[in-house]
Amino acid sequence: MNEMQITKIFAPAKVNLTLHVTGQRKDGYHLLDSLVVFADVGDRITVRPNDANRLEVIGPKAAGVPTDGSNLVCKAADLFGVPVHITLSKHLPAMAGIGGGSSDAAATVLALAELTGDARLPDVTTLGADVRVCLMRQASRMRGIGEDVSPIEAMPPLFAVLANTGVEVSTPSVFKALECKNNPPMPKKLPRWKTTAAFINWLATQRNDLEAPAIKGTPQIADTLEALNALPDVRLVRMSGSGATCFALFETREQAERAAAVLRDEQPNWWVEACQLS
Ligand code: C5P
Repeated sequence: MNEMQITKIFAPAKVNLTLHVTGQRKDGYHLLDSLVVFADVGDRITVRPNDANRLEVIGPKAAGVPTDGSNLVCKAADLFGVPVHITLSKHLPAMAGIGGGSSDAAATVLALAELTGDARLPDVTTLGADVRVCLMRQASRMRGIGEDVSPIEAMPPLFAVLANTGVEVSTPSVFKALECKNNPPMPKKLPRWKTTAAFINWLATQRNDLEAPAIKGTPQIADTLEALNALPDVRLVRMSGSGATCFALFETREQAERAAAVLRDEQPNWWVEACQLS
């Protein structure tokens, strides 16, 4: 390992454009069929060799983020067994359905692999169901409990506003509140969407099965969806993951940025970001 080497890596927000819950395993984990994409907003991670493991958390969303071994970033670094100093700059809200912790863990794995020169990535399934798709960092179809990931080859450009009121959501409690665990999957073969408009029209025929149980426990999610639905030029509104972050889809970046400005004016205390999804 090069002692002087510093590795910087971006940890993008993960967005579930669809999330179908299609079954439940005997161990309690749920089988999913989800179209996962990544935003050009996210956290930033810097890794440098050190004589002991250390995690420093900075940035606008650093409050409350653990800096001890319980942070997924530390667990990810532990897979390599070399001591490092990690600086995590948090821009994504925590427990928010956009994979902040999972994306940070996946980015740490990629940074450590570069730093150590390890060509083979370790098994990340122990870190969490979403970490594997976050290693891909590109539009993917995720099945099983998250271990079965296949990239989507051609996706039209897609723009979004992400919004979160600040309320945190516990993923296990949302899965627990889900009444029907055996919902239909997405079509076996996904269409080849030629335009952004056609893609959004197709997405509107699909679902996030966790939306209803999440709203039951966290009514702020309904407020978020309502506020996004009222924005100019919006084409589709949905919750990501187990919430509470919701997204509104747009055909152009200008439309997304204009809508984000409107929402920030209305709700100055919400986390609101315009982004491209890919
Ligand atoms: O794997 P991760 O730690 O992100 O999952 C958090 C919790 O969400 C799990 O303990 C489980 O209760 C629930 N979960 C699930 N099925 C999945 C993913 C997560 O039931 N596919």
